[in-house]
Amino acid sequence: MLPEFEIEHYYDAYSQEAEIDLSSSDCETMSTEELLALQGLDTGALNTMTLEYTSTLGSLELRQLIASRYDDLGADNVLLFNSSGEAIYAIFTTLVDRNDHVIAHVPAYQSLYQVARQQTQQLSFWHAREANDWQPDIHDLKRLLRPNTKYVVINSPNNPTGHVFSQAFASELNSLAEQHGFVLISDELFRDLEFEPSLASSSMCDLSDTALSISGLAKSYGLPGLRLGWLATKNMNTYQKILRMKRYLSRCVATPSEFLATIALKSHAQIMARSHSILRQNLSLLDAFFGDYPDVFSVVPPQAGNTVFPHLLGDEDIDHFCCRIRSRSGLFLLPGHVFAPHYRNFRLGFAHADMSKALVQLRMALDDDS
Ligand SMILES: Cc1ncc(COP(=O)(O)O)c(C=O)c1O
Repeated sequence: MLPEFEIEHYYDAYSQEAEIDLSSSDCETMSTEELLALQGLDTGALNTMTLEYTSTLGSLELRQLIASRYDDLGADNVLLFNSSGEAIYAIFTTLVDRNDHVIAHVPAYQSLYQVARQQTQQLSFWHAREANDWQPDIHDLKRLLRPNTKYVVINSPNNPTGHVFSQAFASELNSLAEQHGFVLISDELFRDLEFEPSLASSSMCDLSDTALSISGLAKSYGLPGLRLGWLATKNMNTYQKILRMKRYLSRCVATPSEFLATIALKSHAQIMARSHSILRQNLSLLDAFFGDYPDVFSVVPPQAGNTVFPHLLGDEDIDHFCCRIRSRSGLFLLPGHVFAPHYRNFRLGFAHADMSKALVQLRMALDDDS
């Protein structure tokens, strides 16, 4: 049996106690009405939406729109899922065998390593180090490789650190994958949230003929309630295997989600502009905030995404710290050990429009105790 999904369990256990969630990693969401308006529609457009089964792969129009977000893919290279979490589950349960060795970049969303670990006990962590600005070291990866290393799992832009792999690093990883013969499984849910255009790098499935890229609408689009995720790849042999597994999970994605996701993809530029404008504003608030607490936190500034992973200085236990802040200020923070054991960090999310109020409350809680 799979062990507890720490991040989701922590949310279930403690988020009810909090007034404001200052940890979440999805961009500011919007109403159905706001989403439809981006394409000049009103909610009347929902009245004619029918609720039949659709294609198991996902509608052709939506897959074409998704494929157009990549350099070199067509609709046939895209497979839709009811959430990227479902895609992750399907990919790892389909592909990983008992005799495979898998390497996972951490810190990361737990299912990116836990489902593989359920299939094989041969899982190694490739740690990105805070001292290296959360950039994982390719030499560490080379040392972890074994003759039976079959998959290397990466997440860039990274949740929770906000670190991005450069184009040069992504190419170096791809060359290593080709030399050694492992397949890259790349979680790219936070793509398009790079703070500088120069930080945007190619999707792994554009760079490589074998890599599997996972993405969806939950994070940069701020539409987690649509539960819409996808796999994008040129590796059609593997695509077919995952499709076979997917048929056991769900016949197709939810029809209303497919309809609204099509509108979201058509509105890509407007949605990203909205997310970036909130992030820009919140980043300058965060800069000022952390500048005032150099003895309490050390922080590597994020390069993308909407989360930061500050290190708590001193010797207070990280669970105790998150609990103390919750009870003093009503703010919910996520302790770092939910992303892999032993982190003395916490995740703070800065994608929501009400962040200035939350930071005032956080200041009060910290100042009360000093
Ligand atoms: C990196 C990463 N991948 C995948 C997921 C799962 O997203 P979804 O809501 O689409 O299942 C999350 C959710 O937090 C995530 O952070």
